[in-house]
Amino acid sequence: MNRKKIVAGNWKMNKTLSEAIELMSGILKNPGDNSVTKIVFPPYPVISAITNFVGASGSFSTGAQNCSEHASGAFTGEVSAAIIKSIGCKYVLVGHSERRQYFGETNAISSKKIKLALENKLNVIYCIGETLAERKANTHFDVVKTQLTEALQGIDPTNIIIAYEPVWAIGTGETATQAQAQEMHAHIRVCLKNLFNSDVANNTPILYGGSCNAQNAAELFACPDIDGGLIGGASLKADDFCKIIRSF
Ligand code: PGA
Repeated sequence: MNRKKIVAGNWKMNKTLSEAIELMSGILKNPGDNSVTKIVFPPYPVISAITNFVGASGSFSTGAQNCSEHASGAFTGEVSAAIIKSIGCKYVLVGHSERRQYFGETNAISSKKIKLALENKLNVIYCIGETLAERKANTHFDVVKTQLTEALQGIDPTNIIIAYEPVWAIGTGETATQAQAQEMHAHIRVCLKNLFNSDVANNTPILYGGSCNAQNAAELFACPDIDGGLIGGASLKADDFCKIIRSF
């Protein structure tokens, strides 16, 4: 078993064009070695500029934070997987908890997005994770299982990466403990085994996200079932992000 190590920066709705270029040039000063797959997810309008900017270095890939559940057509303000692919992106995030919480994205909608992304030869980072209320009610394992089952059933999992992001840890400064994260990542592998097979369970990268930062990344990445991180706040500071990339 030789899973990829991955660090991805989700810039969310931050960074104007000039700020984005400044951040990316800071990151490229210290990009780490090629044993880690490194991805940034800028806001839609600046993805092209960042893709071109990192293009020559070859050390970073870019992705979109979302894509439409529709293939094309009259959906004002939406962006399709085909358009995302056409500007040189390799990745797309699907099912981020902020999409679920603020934009009503369900597992069924995530499933449609994943299918379109894969048809367009994008790699998908599918985000899952329970709310605080669900953890307190002790339903977190079931919630995650349902998120996986409803979105991934019948899908070819080859180009899927999972990001476990407990909602209570996102942007709150409260990180899952090593034990909580490892326990859930191991559970996700069991779900993948039941949904697909042991090879898929063993080979699918599973990233942790939720207040992962330059201080705690190393202890999280040391867990046997954690293959890297999906980083929000700390990916907006070049030095912190570069330190996280070096945390394996
Ligand atoms: P955070 O966000 O690192 O700021 O908690 C992670 C994410 O939402 O992907």
